[in-house]
Amino acid sequence: MKIAVLVSGQGSILEALIRERVPIALVAGDRECRALEAAENAGIPTELVERGDFGASFDRHEYTERLMHVLKTYGIELVAMAGFMTFLSEEFFENFGGRVLNTHPSLLPRFKGDHAVRDALESGAQETGCTIHIATEKLDEGQIIAQETVPIHEGDTVDALHERIKQAERRLYPRILKDIVSGELALPRKEDIIKSDN
Ligand code: GRF
Repeated sequence: MKIAVLVSGQGSILEALIRERVPIALVAGDRECRALEAAENAGIPTELVERGDFGASFDRHEYTERLMHVLKTYGIELVAMAGFMTFLSEEFFENFGGRVLNTHPSLLPRFKGDHAVRDALESGAQETGCTIHIATEKLDEGQIIAQETVPIHEGDTVDALHERIKQAERRLYPRILKDIVSGELALPRKEDIIKSDN
């Protein structure tokens, strides 16, 4: 199964996938970032599919087509987002038929969106966590595959809490991806994903 990992940032989750020997055919980034360097250093093929425009004129559809074209060139069958910060348009999820996974730093459905860690901290909750889920065109809403709970400590900062959550993500995501590759974990069929979303 040919896996692509999509990245935008530090790449500590990607490094965990590499360390745990998840077979990765390609790492693609939407910007120059440490994650792409980490992939290069590990000898994994990389592609920078540069986004450039972060303003209101960003053409999401055009960007999605460009990224999809690159992934098709590599024959990618499963996409694992790991800190990828561009929201892709619907045809991406249609094209990969439910074979797009994401890791999110909260226990979904709580704390969706870009500020999940801060929102959990500000909510006064005593615990949060991470979620591996199927990514769909509805942000942070696809079917949940696995979760791990993480405690929130008295006096936590956003950074400290995020690092604790990332430790859980670095444990959980490689395990889930390896189980998918080995066939131990079956992903839901595309039809079922669409049904459960409605
Ligand atoms: C992770 O917490 C992920 O859930 C979130 O971004 C973070 C990526 O971390 N979407 P890194 O770039 O892999 O260190």
